Amino acid sequence: MRAAVSGIILSLGLMASAAHADGDIAVNVDPSHPGSTIDRHIFGQFAEQLGTQIYGGIWVGKDSKIPNTRGIRNDVVAALRDLHIPDVRWPGGCYADQYHWRDGIGKNHNARINTSWGDVLDSNAFGTNQYFDFLHQIGSEAYVSVNVGSGTVEEAADWMEYMTADKPTALARLRAADGHPAPYSVAFMGIGNESWDCGGLMTPTEYTARMRRYARFVNDLNPADKLQKIAVGPGGPDTAWTDAVMDTWKQRHGWSFDIQGMSLHSYTVFGGWPPHMPSTGFAEQDYANVLQETLKMNALIDQQSAVMDKYDPDKKIALVVDEWGAWYAPAPGSNPAFLQQQNSLRDGILAALNLNIFARHADRVRMANIAQMVNVLQSMLMTDGPKMVKTPTYYVFKMYVPFQDATYLPVAYDAGSYTAGSVTLPRVDALAARTKDGKIVVSLVNVDPDHPADFTVAVPGTSASSAHGQMLTAKAVDSVNSFSSPDTVVPKPVSASVANGTLSITLPPASVTVLEMDK
Ligand code: AHR
Repeated sequence: MRAAVSGIILSLGLMASAAHADGDIAVNVDPSHPGSTIDRHIFGQFAEQLGTQIYGGIWVGKDSKIPNTRGIRNDVVAALRDLHIPDVRWPGGCYADQYHWRDGIGKNHNARINTSWGDVLDSNAFGTNQYFDFLHQIGSEAYVSVNVGSGTVEEAADWMEYMTADKPTALARLRAADGHPAPYSVAFMGIGNESWDCGGLMTPTEYTARMRRYARFVNDLNPADKLQKIAVGPGGPDTAWTDAVMDTWKQRHGWSFDIQGMSLHSYTVFGGWPPHMPSTGFAEQDYANVLQETLKMNALIDQQSAVMDKYDPDKKIALVVDEWGAWYAPAPGSNPAFLQQQNSLRDGILAALNLNIFARHADRVRMANIAQMVNVLQSMLMTDGPKMVKTPTYYVFKMYVPFQDATYLPVAYDAGSYTAGSVTLPRVDALAARTKDGKIVVSLVNVDPDHPADFTVAVPGTSASSAHGQMLTAKAVDSVNSFSSPDTVVPKPVSASVANGTLSITLPPASVTVLEMDK
């Protein structure tokens, strides 16, 4: 990945002379009305066979000089392990609907042209067994997208049998011959991808007819599994598609079929399609424009949840935001079909704002997968040959680990406002939860790139006298980590005092901070 260097340095007010915007931000946490569990699966990832993500970014092959374990890069695995990634969606994306799983098993994998992404040769060296090895190495669960567009129900059912059969069927014996006698576990199965577009340009009626059959006949045969099936949902605010999927689900009867989730895809693209905003070297106005765009995720989830509520008031079906993130212009000099872009402090803030939105909708949004993991779109990591760098988005995901499976706690605060040109945004954003081990954890985002923010966080009933955590900021909102300068945007330890149940802290402009109250 070519690392662009920031061309414009914005004044962030980190200097002593910086003026504080008016007044404290008083955040009141209400531990007496706990909400839903913030499912760890909202921190899921997406690794499509696209560009240099799998080939180069994850898979280098056993004979590579880049240190690897059975062909999978050790540096990437070590970095990803720290994120406690709950699941990895694979092989697509658009690629899922052209993927034929038999190309990626056995002694000789079949090369194919990746017509979804740049017509490049895909060796399929990374196939099913390599995917599960990767999951095993990073400590994650499987989310496979089966081919609905150019595949068949039979092909998908066979793939599931190959992966999960615990009895000696022909396909289980094939898996054993490939080196894995024990069945794999599959946690999630996506029934196609964007079937309204690259997945086959289907109408809602065409898709739901296929969905019924895939949901009925493509099954997990590992008794230890509780596979969740996820239907294709809308891309953006389309309600006709959601109506069709939810109505079809509602009409099921007996053991005809079931689904447990419906996807939603929504990228942050400012200025229209195709994405043309640079991922670095931008001015403050474009920082604000992009964040304004990303905050639309909140209304989109409200809108889609309202449609789902009509059919499913008990919220049995999860809304799975399995493609989200910023999508910018291709990095200069890169193959445009490889979707390579830089990742700045703006993206770290954007990630935090979206994770907070998902957490606030934890009763319905029980899974999300950022697009994508390595070298593609808003990635965690970028690689170039043997080099690897962690992005600001990586660090936000790392800081948010305490929120995984934590219990949402309501917060009340007046966010104030931050204005850039014609754009006015909430100046701050806050999230609170009780961690699995009983600690209060808060995330405080200062969106304003020009002023620090003085926060107080009141937690009735806490006996904590201190809090500690990590804070991510940088000199400029377009600061990036590059291979030559990998530590430009890295979190720093912070601590705060807590007196009479109230934490006080001043946070720099354009920053994300996660603090745990010490018990
Ligand atoms: O993430 C890149 C692409 O965006 C995916 O392949 C597709 O599902 C979406 O349109």
